[in-house]
Amino acid sequence: MGLASFRSLIRPFVPKFLLELHRRRWEQRQERHQRHIIDEFHKIYYPSRVHEAYWLGVPALKCPLDCWVYAEIIFSTKPEIIVETGVCYGGTTLYLASLCDLLGQGTVIGVDLELQNVRDPVRQHPRIHFIEGNSVDPAVLEQVWQWCRGKRTMVILDSDHHAAHVLQELRSYGEMVTPGCYLICEDTNLNGNPVFSPVPYNPGPKEAMDMFLKEQEDAWVVDKGCEKFLMTFNPGGYLKKK
Ligand SMILES: C[S@@+](CC[C@H](N)C(=O)[O-])C[C@H]1O[C@@H](n2cnc3c(N)ncnc32)[C@H](O)[C@@H]1O
Repeated sequence: MGLASFRSLIRPFVPKFLLELHRRRWEQRQERHQRHIIDEFHKIYYPSRVHEAYWLGVPALKCPLDCWVYAEIIFSTKPEIIVETGVCYGGTTLYLASLCDLLGQGTVIGVDLELQNVRDPVRQHPRIHFIEGNSVDPAVLEQVWQWCRGKRTMVILDSDHHAAHVLQELRSYGEMVTPGCYLICEDTNLNGNPVFSPVPYNPGPKEAMDMFLKEQEDAWVVDKGCEKFLMTFNPGGYLKKK
C-alpha cells in the first residue's frame, strides 16, 4: 500500500483539529520556502540588474515590477502633483510624466542635490519641474510646498538612503501627501532586507520607515497589496494616507 492510499484510509479516524493543524503547518512551510526563493532571486537581480532598466532611453533605477505598481497607484489615485526626491538620470521622472500624459493630468516635481546627470528628454518634458538642493533643506521644502499646497499629492522618496535622512524626509514630505494618496519609501530592501548595496546603509530606509510608523502609525496604512508581484525594492514601503 502506498503512502497516499494509507493516508486516505486513516483520514476518517484522525481528529479534525489535527488535520487542520497539519494543513496550517504545511502552508507555513510552503510560504517560507517561497519567500526564500523570492529573496534568493532578489539577491541575484539587485546587484546585476538595478542599472539595466530604461524608460524612453533614460536609465531608471527601479525594479520594473514596482513601476507597474506605480502605474496602478497613479491611475487609481489620480494625483495632480507627484514629488520624487532623488532624480539621478531622470528615467523614473520621465516615466511618471509619461503616465501623466496618458491620463491627461499631473505635474512631476523632481528634487535632487545635483541635476547635472539629468538627461535631455527629461529636462525638456513640459510636465516636469526641477528643484535643486538638499531635499530636507527648509528652502527646498518651501518650494515643493508651493507646488503641492491644496493639490492632490503623492510622494516618492529615493534620495539619500541613510536612515536619518529618510526619516527627515518621511516626516516632512509625509505632510504633503493628500489622504487617499501614497507616500512611497524606496529601497527598504537594503541593509539585508534582503539585499545590500555597495554603500552600506546601516541603518537604512527600512529602519527609518519602522521609526516613522511608530510615530505615526494611526495616520498610514502599509499597503501590502502593492507587493503582489512578489519581488519589490520597497517591501513595507508603500504607505497610503488615511
Ligand atoms: C538612487 S538615485 C535616484 C534614482 C531615481 N529616483 C531613479 O529612479 O532613477 C539617488 C539620487 O539622490 C540624490 N541625492 C542624494 N542625497 C540627496 C539629498 N540630500 N537631497 C536630494 N537629493 C539627494 C543623488 O544626487 C542621486 O541623484
